Amino acid sequence: MIGFSRTSEELTCDGVPLSVIAAAEGTPLYVYSAALIRRRYRELNVAFGDYPHAIHYAFKANSTRAIVAELKAIGSAVDAVSMWEVEVARAVGFAPRQIVFDGVGKSDAELESAVALDLKAINVESTGELQRVEAIADRMGTLARVAIRVNPDIDAKSHPHISTGLKINKFGIPAEDTQALLPTFKNRRAVQLVALHVHVGSQITSMDPIRHAAVRLAELARVAHQAGVSLEYLDAGGGLGISYDGGQVPSFREYATAFVDAVRSTRLPIVVEPGRSIVGPAGALVARVLDIKPRTATSEFAVIDAGMSELMRPALYNAFHLIEPVDARIGGLRQYEIVGPVCESGDVVGRDRMLTPLDIGDLVAICDAGAYGAVMASNYNRRPLPAEVLVDNGTWRVIRRRQTLADLLALEM
Ligand code: LLP
Repeated sequence: MIGFSRTSEELTCDGVPLSVIAAAEGTPLYVYSAALIRRRYRELNVAFGDYPHAIHYAFKANSTRAIVAELKAIGSAVDAVSMWEVEVARAVGFAPRQIVFDGVGKSDAELESAVALDLKAINVESTGELQRVEAIADRMGTLARVAIRVNPDIDAKSHPHISTGLKINKFGIPAEDTQALLPTFKNRRAVQLVALHVHVGSQITSMDPIRHAAVRLAELARVAHQAGVSLEYLDAGGGLGISYDGGQVPSFREYATAFVDAVRSTRLPIVVEPGRSIVGPAGALVARVLDIKPRTATSEFAVIDAGMSELMRPALYNAFHLIEPVDARIGGLRQYEIVGPVCESGDVVGRDRMLTPLDIGDLVAICDAGAYGAVMASNYNRRPLPAEVLVDNGTWRVIRRRQTLADLLALEM
């Protein structure tokens, strides 16, 4: 049994009862399934068939060392968005040429390190950034490998905060400007254009925006070719959504086929940067019920010990995460507003949920929290970051210990 599943009595991760892990490590607690992470990576990999491709797992989704080490061991490469993520990748043993470096605001210090490391590509997001990279490489007497992040003006139809492909979004260089820029790479001394890159958003649940973006990328690759600039690969970004609520989402096969069909005629290898679709379903946030109190005539508040400080997605994007009692009690369904402990009314983890009766002390699992969960946690209200546990092969281990107040205070004078 891989991932989170319910035995007749309780919720388990890869067969290990969540209650056992929570009893040992306390709550709030992130629990991940190593087997499910591996399975999802492999399914995506197989979906590309024999078309040349590389999966650069997006560290921003979850970069706890043990998790990225797991992905490294089965062949993944890296998509990083800060020099700190690059450093984590290096610490885990990834080679510079396995790392692509994205991000709309890279500092000079970051660009200098990236150029010095000779990463697989620095994905530039503006002509100004391109000039900065060029100046740095020139000064260092080296050739920097860059990719242009293209803004294709495509609506990903995801939440506005995580749709990135419209002209009004801060990301990338508009497609027309890219077209004009391409021929200039024939005469640049210090930068080599190795790829074109696009990423139109995250949690995309319809293939159309992804397909359109890939087609646009292939068109631009042909323009580059005609201009005498030869690319090494095309980077189609991440973005494939997962099913948080049981609704349909495109499969890995549909996702991979869309890219391969769009770019096959260019004969260029494909790079993808998936984050959420690999690790999202492989993690849950386990929390304990602290209080039950009346709310309306028909519903109650269940106050739990995890909230926007541990999982920001519901408060930030009004995102839905399934919440399940770890031990389902006998009894009819009751309506709960599941809220966190943080001093804000917006700290709601799940609205109007129909669950079997909850009691103080019960455990609940907030599902599909493997991506953009632990990485977005904060110390708001002085809450220490939660611990993280990886379940593998019937056993489990802490992969990040719970932060302590002493850890926090150690930074202050
Ligand atoms: N590549 C680039 C350039 C990106 O900006 C992102 C995500 C990815 C790859 C990975 O996308 P994925 O496959 O995970 O969709 N905090 C938000 C998600 C932000 C995504 C940012 N960029 C959330 O919790 O939904």
